[in-house]
Amino acid sequence: MFPCRGLVAPCLRAISSIDEPRRGVNGGECALVSRFAERGKVAVAAQSVSIDRMTSATDDWFADEEFWIASYPFMFPDRRVEAAEHEVEQILALTRHTKGAVLDLACGPGRHAVALARRGFAVTGVDRSAFLLDKARSRARELDLDVEWVHEDMRAIRRPATYELALSLFTSFGFFHDDADNQRVLDSVAESLKPGGAFVLDMLGKEILARIFTPTSSTERSEGLVVHRHRVTDDWSRMDNEWILLQHERPRTFRFAHWIYSAREIEWMLRKAGFAEVRAFGSLAGIPYGPEAERLVVVGTKPA
Ligand SMILES: C[S@@+](CC[C@H](N)C(=O)[O-])C[C@H]1O[C@@H](n2cnc3c(N)ncnc32)[C@H](O)[C@@H]1O
Repeated sequence: MFPCRGLVAPCLRAISSIDEPRRGVNGGECALVSRFAERGKVAVAAQSVSIDRMTSATDDWFADEEFWIASYPFMFPDRRVEAAEHEVEQILALTRHTKGAVLDLACGPGRHAVALARRGFAVTGVDRSAFLLDKARSRARELDLDVEWVHEDMRAIRRPATYELALSLFTSFGFFHDDADNQRVLDSVAESLKPGGAFVLDMLGKEILARIFTPTSSTERSEGLVVHRHRVTDDWSRMDNEWILLQHERPRTFRFAHWIYSAREIEWMLRKAGFAEVRAFGSLAGIPYGPEAERLVVVGTKPA
């Protein structure tokens, strides 16, 4: 997950106003000093962080609820939650679906699920994180919206011919170490769509990552600072990521890894799952997937 451009690491271009990590006097020790504004005051946080060689994440890193809780302010700032309204408009324009049932796979805090429910869609939001689903639930409750929230692993969802539209947004795909599991998710989505239904998959494509890759970046918010480290592995097939969160007294490190796909690779996986027409775009606005692409957005349509 790169912060700015979305996930796979939400923030590849987020080298912000913080000092770059500096080598301290104690070998691998690194002093990170950040300045961040908090309620009108400027706070200075200085923490000593040990920067070791990056190690790989566990295969089931996504099951660590602490990661989603701790990273929430960085991953889902207000502006990103607000952006979902516009993103949903773009998705509807791209797929030309105006009503029906929608499956939001790995819905997180329900940004898109809620926006779709507001527009009259019957929405099912699936996520493995109880913490994020609670966020989603309270958002829907505040707006008096009825959404079906399912606390489940995305691999377990299979509801034959139920949905007009399925979504996997903000790099919520490619998390399983065994890529056959990722393919299985696509197979289930295809099965869960009605004939003529569409699937929108939004991620940071490999071509974009190759263009903007930087091994270290950071994101600063009023809540704190996060340093991101990234490593491409397996011949540009996977990415190891490390987030060092400096929020409280003690820095916390989280590691996660995922597959990175080229447009061609993910198109092929969708076709294998049974999607007939598969188109790639460079954003939810539908720009071409070329040198200017901001995201890899793939739209697959199930045969009618
Ligand atoms: C980057 S967030 C994106 C959330 C949402 N799609 C959005 O755009 O705000 C990735 C989401 O994937 C969910 N997730 C991770 N592993 C999962 C799994 N195995 N099954 C279901 N959800 C999972 C996380 O809990 C998190 O909500």
